[in-house]
Amino acid sequence: MHPMLNIGVRAARNAGNIIAKAYENFDKVEVQSKGLNDYVTSVDKAAEQAIIDTIQKSYPEHGIIAEESGIIEGQENDCQWVIDPLDGTTNFIKGIPHFAVSVALRVKGKTEHGVIYDPLRNELFTASRGNGAQLNGYRLRVSNSRDLTDTVIGTGFPFKQKHLTETYLAMFGAIFAECGDLRRAGSAALDLAYVAAGRQDGFFELGLKPWDIAAGELIAREAGALVSDVAGGYNYMKTGNIVVTNAKMMKIMLGLLREHLTDSMK
Ligand code: IPD
Ligand code: CA
Ligand code: CA
Repeated sequence: MHPMLNIGVRAARNAGNIIAKAYENFDKVEVQSKGLNDYVTSVDKAAEQAIIDTIQKSYPEHGIIAEESGIIEGQENDCQWVIDPLDGTTNFIKGIPHFAVSVALRVKGKTEHGVIYDPLRNELFTASRGNGAQLNGYRLRVSNSRDLTDTVIGTGFPFKQKHLTETYLAMFGAIFAECGDLRRAGSAALDLAYVAAGRQDGFFELGLKPWDIAAGELIAREAGALVSDVAGGYNYMKTGNIVVTNAKMMKIMLGLLREHLTDSMK
């Protein structure tokens, strides 16, 4: 394993241990509102600090962007760690056992390493660019579905951005009419990891943030997926509008989703 990926894994596991312990002892967790349907807990913050401490111990000069702390400049900002300490906070707060830690390293804007860790299932998804993707050390491969028949497609609802409801529901309807079934499990990072693992045949969501996507898009691509924005371009890190599936299905999914994009989203 590349030394930088190794540090990412150590950081994600440290955070995962904090989250798993707190999940068993939820009475002690403090919850605060950040915005519409957007919450942060004392656990998100503690997990994020553990990740930052682990990274800075080995790479004090690297930059960091983390969901709760924002941008932390380093002396060598060409290397930037992108951190979501707890992806699936709503599930965590409600006691639904489906959430993960997401850590990625970008070098000159290109994601080189990605880690997604599900602490309750002890599932560690990892990838380094050009080296494939693994789950607990075993090679991952995307599903080989040729069309949407019998597929399970993951998605996320725009619950923090309700102005997207109409556009989103049109897209949902177009995909639902053709696919086997849809899932809204509540962690975009795990949605991407599950596409990599072939557990979901595809995934789409609107308005995600870079820390939701960074590790997962590398893991999915290294498992053979294509990643696109809804317009069919590569601006998903900026727009947060993302479609992930195998090469055959990408054409089909984009064909169904694209026509519902509004001008302001292109
Ligand atoms: C959220 C989850 C969710 C997605 C939201 C994200 P958070 O992240 O990934 O599945 O639908 O858009 O914001 O807030 O739990 O880290
Ligand atoms: Ca997130
Ligand atoms: Ca989060």
